[in-house]
Amino acid sequence: MSKLPFYVIGNWKSNKTMDEAVIWMRDFETFYKKTPFDVTKVQAVICAPFLHVTTLSSLLTLSNIPLKLGVQTISSFAVGAYTGEVAASMIAGLAHFVLIGHSERRKHFKETDEELAQKVKQAKSVGLEVVYCVQDENMTVPDGVNFVGYEPVWAIGTGKAETAENANTVAVNIKKRLGREVTVIYGGSVTPENIGTYVTMQHLGGVLPGGASLKADTFHSLLTHAAESVT
Ligand code: PGA
Repeated sequence: MSKLPFYVIGNWKSNKTMDEAVIWMRDFETFYKKTPFDVTKVQAVICAPFLHVTTLSSLLTLSNIPLKLGVQTISSFAVGAYTGEVAASMIAGLAHFVLIGHSERRKHFKETDEELAQKVKQAKSVGLEVVYCVQDENMTVPDGVNFVGYEPVWAIGTGKAETAENANTVAVNIKKRLGREVTVIYGGSVTPENIGTYVTMQHLGGVLPGGASLKADTFHSLLTHAAESVT
């Protein structure tokens, strides 16, 4: 392990009604109280749809659940006449993290490197922590990014995860190319069964589970398994 805590950053993508989001949070609290995980070893984050962020943030304030919130994208503009957009300053204070550059945003919404760099600027200007996703080790990473998510497209939602050894090698190459210390996290078919292999890799600082974050019990097992694997 390079440094603690090991981040487990769930991405709900475009899933869950408000009721389902609230039930997930109550269930997660119940699992955590019954079987707590060591918060010095693992940090739980959920990247939720914008719609749910205010409600989830209030629920977290009222409870002792060790979970931080994130969002899955952000406007490349500041506040203003940009119909339909959510500006970074609206999210600051409610969430800590923002995913930028996920392959699904690049593919379905045609987000370009230039636009993504603007999003990073907006997020950083209000203090959001950016998890910048790349699909291979040679992709551009804007300045000021502290977390890089390595997510090979073939591993997303397929049940075929990249091996921990390969992900670790990619992490080494990303750090070398950027010439600075960043936290590299791996995403693509991470499960409670394979999370331990990533935890033990020296250059991986976390994982980004999608499907495995949707059920509170599975997300909770990701965290307990990860904490057990931290040496
Ligand atoms: P998955 O998704 O865990 O369902 O493969 C990962 C991601 O897209 O972040």
